[in-house]
Amino acid sequence: MKTYPRANPGDQPPLVYPPYASNIRRAPAMPPIPLEHTLSELTGPLYGHNPIGETDNDLTRQHTADPIGERIVVAGRVMDEDGRPIPHTLVEIWQANAAGRYRHAVDNHPAPLDPNFTGAGRTVTDQNGDYRFLTIKPGAYPWRNHPNAWRPAHIHFSLFGPCFVTRLITQMYFPNDPLFPYDPISLAIPDERARQRLVSQFDLDLTEPEWALGFRFDIVLRGRDATPFEGQS
Ligand SMILES: [Fe+2]
Repeated sequence: MKTYPRANPGDQPPLVYPPYASNIRRAPAMPPIPLEHTLSELTGPLYGHNPIGETDNDLTRQHTADPIGERIVVAGRVMDEDGRPIPHTLVEIWQANAAGRYRHAVDNHPAPLDPNFTGAGRTVTDQNGDYRFLTIKPGAYPWRNHPNAWRPAHIHFSLFGPCFVTRLITQMYFPNDPLFPYDPISLAIPDERARQRLVSQFDLDLTEPEWALGFRFDIVLRGRDATPFEGQS
């Protein structure tokens, strides 16, 4: 019978990490009780089962004009613990605009909204497990977790896998971000090498001449090289 390698201790964040203040109230105070999966959880349609639209993976072409900011390509491969590609899996992203503002009702950070940028995209991995987005580099934003708290620039990722209960959520960061060492969300991952697996790499091969810088972000779903995910411990 196949066995899956376990994540190394310290590679995944704990459910409660007090320096990340808002997760204290969100995290379970009691040990989780395993529940059987329901049939609908295993076989029901996934969110996003509608056909992928032409501009769903190009966040710079979802409105009538170009959004403000630095165009970037974000691409990579989704793999299992043995490095085998995961084809045909839905990858969704959401992010702030170049000024660090989300198009969201509760974001009142006094930075401008961009009428030409929604900040949400989705795509499906191809037969090689590869995905690709064109988007705008997000700005850092303040978040009141502690005095003078700023999130490093990041893009939220969701990977659905074959059914609703296999969904995984994480965040991608950018190389050499001065805010990364101060961020309680990424610091919740105890192991430094595991934290670095959330940092994308600048990639000249992904970079498009005269158009956009390229950043590679490969995602490993489990095992010793697994990408750290939220709420998995
Ligand atoms: Fe965010």
